[in-house]
Amino acid sequence: MKATAKAHTNIALIKYWGKRDESLILPMNNSLSLTLDGFHTTTTVEFQEGLEKDTFSLNSVGAEGVELERVSVFLDLIRSQYDIGPIHAQVQSTNTVPTAAGFASSASGFAALAAAATRALGLELDDTELSRLTRQGSGSACRSVYGGFVEWQMGERADGMDSYAVQVAPANYWDVRMAGVVLSDKMKKVSSREGMKRTVDTSPFYNAWVDSIAPDLAGIKDGIREQNFEKVGEIAEANCLKMHATTLGAVPPFTYWLDSTMAVMQTVRSMRDAGVPAYFTIDAGPNVKVLYLPENEEAVHTTLRNIPGVADVILSRTGQGITYL
Ligand code: PMV
Repeated sequence: MKATAKAHTNIALIKYWGKRDESLILPMNNSLSLTLDGFHTTTTVEFQEGLEKDTFSLNSVGAEGVELERVSVFLDLIRSQYDIGPIHAQVQSTNTVPTAAGFASSASGFAALAAAATRALGLELDDTELSRLTRQGSGSACRSVYGGFVEWQMGERADGMDSYAVQVAPANYWDVRMAGVVLSDKMKKVSSREGMKRTVDTSPFYNAWVDSIAPDLAGIKDGIREQNFEKVGEIAEANCLKMHATTLGAVPPFTYWLDSTMAVMQTVRSMRDAGVPAYFTIDAGPNVKVLYLPENEEAVHTTLRNIPGVADVILSRTGQGITYL
């Protein structure tokens, strides 16, 4: 009744932005990500007879409130989907990056939780089923079941059975790297859930976003197949800008960007002008992730660290999918 799983986070190059079903977490568009080895969560789940409720600790600190509730609601889903009955669990997680730094800790978190909980219960899920289940904890987490380049296929069905991730290329296929640029200034957060909903419901740019996905996806998959770094980077950066453009059209309008976010974007463009191929992407927060090649690691690291407002730069290689410890 006890198991431990490790999952890495992932950063989307083609973003998931908008749900067609809020409760099953079914997206409006396919997305494509890179799994990163620098950011991971290891989770142990132990189901025990006699526990009155689930407990959760993160980096050895007991969690209460919304954090505990998100874990417990997800375990409820597993208990009901697999007819488990009322047995509760102790959940212990460790994260390698500060949860608040905004590096998709929910992706590695839910992937590790889904894997450890189902393994602890003796359920033998294949990767597809594990991805489908993980999706219902946090959408982007369904991609963290796999390493390397991963596509979340939105599916068409209303029950979500065909909405799960598949691997496009494994972690060792291509040594591209990503720098996570942590900004010192934190702005008040519009959660990804709230941001997506407001955008889908009110932004006149939303349909244009959805229409742009198929060509972006086809192009980036060609780029990955050809290992054409410029092609992949250009498409990823433009896709991110389109996603963020939809938020400016929402009512009321909002943006995740800070001054320092734009300073990093501008520096990345200047690096390119100076001959260093590097491309940025940004999720539902102010921090920036920069895609680069190994031979430029030192130049990229030094340049990013020296931008005013940058608190930290965390370098990462491509990461593996779920492993059981
Ligand atoms: O899975 P969520 O609810 O954390 O949403 C993730 C949304 C983005 O990070 C902005 C894009 C993505 O595909 O990861």
